[in-house]
Amino acid sequence: MALALNKENFLLHKLHSLSGIIPVGFYMCQHLTLNSFSFAGPEYYNGVINFFESIPKHVLLALEIFVIAIPILFHAIYGMFIAFRAKQNFVGTKFGWSQNRMFVLQRISGIYLFFALIVHVSTTTLKKYATGNSEAIKWQGMHDMLTSSGYIWLVFYMLLVLTASYHLAYGIWNFCIRWGITISDAAQIRIQKFAFGFFVVITMLGWVALWGFLPERVG
Ligand code: HEM
Ligand code: HEM
Repeated sequence: MALALNKENFLLHKLHSLSGIIPVGFYMCQHLTLNSFSFAGPEYYNGVINFFESIPKHVLLALEIFVIAIPILFHAIYGMFIAFRAKQNFVGTKFGWSQNRMFVLQRISGIYLFFALIVHVSTTTLKKYATGNSEAIKWQGMHDMLTSSGYIWLVFYMLLVLTASYHLAYGIWNFCIRWGITISDAAQIRIQKFAFGFFVVITMLGWVALWGFLPERVG
C-alpha cells in the first residue's frame, strides 16, 4: 500500500494516537513525578539524577533514543502535520462549541509544545551531552536557570507543564473514544470527568516540581 504523505494515513494516525499515550504520555507522568522530588529537597532530586548517571552509558543512550526520542519525534512531527491540515468542526456539527474549542486548543497546545520542547531538551539533555557534565540539570543548575532573567524561565516552564497536561488529558479522552474504549454517552462523560481531574493533578505535580527549585526551598 503506497504511503500518501499529502493526506493522513490510517496506520500512521493510529500509531500517532497510541504514541501519545505510550510511551510519550507515560514518560511525561514519570518525568514530572521524578522531578517533583525537588520538593523534598535538593538531595532527593540529585539522587534521581545520580541514579540515571549510574546506568551504563550505552543502556541509557539506547533508552533515550528508542523509548523517548524516536516516539516523541514521530508524535511531534506527524502531529504538526495533522495540526496544520486538520479540519475543524465549527458550529452546525454534532460537536458543541465547548468541545470545538477544546479540540482547537489541543492542536494549538501541540504546536506550542513542539517549539517549547525543542528549547527544553536543548537546555537540559542536549546541554548535558554538549558540556559533558550534568551541572545544568542538577538541582543548583535548575534553580539558577528558573530564578534567572526575572523568572521568565519559571513562567516558560509553568506554561510548558500546563500545556502538556492539557494536551495529554484531552488526548486521553479523545483516545478512549477513538479506540472504542468509551462508547456510551455515560462512559464518555465519565472519562471526560476523569480527564479533567487528571489535568488538574498533573499540572499541580509539575508546578510542585518547579516550586521545589525556588529559593524558599533552599536549606
Ligand atoms: C516541571 C517541569 C519540568 C522539569 C523541571 C523538567 C526537567 C528536565 C530535566 C532536568 C531533563 C534532563 C534529564 C536528563 O537528561 O537526564 C529533562 C529532559 C526532558 N524533558 Fe523535561 N522537565 C519538565 C517538564 C517536561 C515536560 C512537561 C515534558 C513533556 C513531555 C518534558 C520532556 C522532556 C524530554 C523529552 C526530555 C529529554 C529526555 C531524554 O532524552 O533523556 N519535560 N527535563
Ligand atoms: C511535541 C509536540 C506535539 C505535537 C505537535 C502534538 C500534536 C498532536 C495532535 C495534532 C494531536 C491530535 C491528533 C488527532 O486528533 O488525530 C495529538 C494527540 C495526542 N497527543 Fe500530541 N503532540 C505533541 C506532544 C505531545 C506530548 C508531549 C504528549 C504527551 C504528554 C502528547 C500526547 C497526545 C495524546 C495522548 C493524544 C491523543 C491521541 C488521540 O487523539 O487518539 N502529545 N497530538
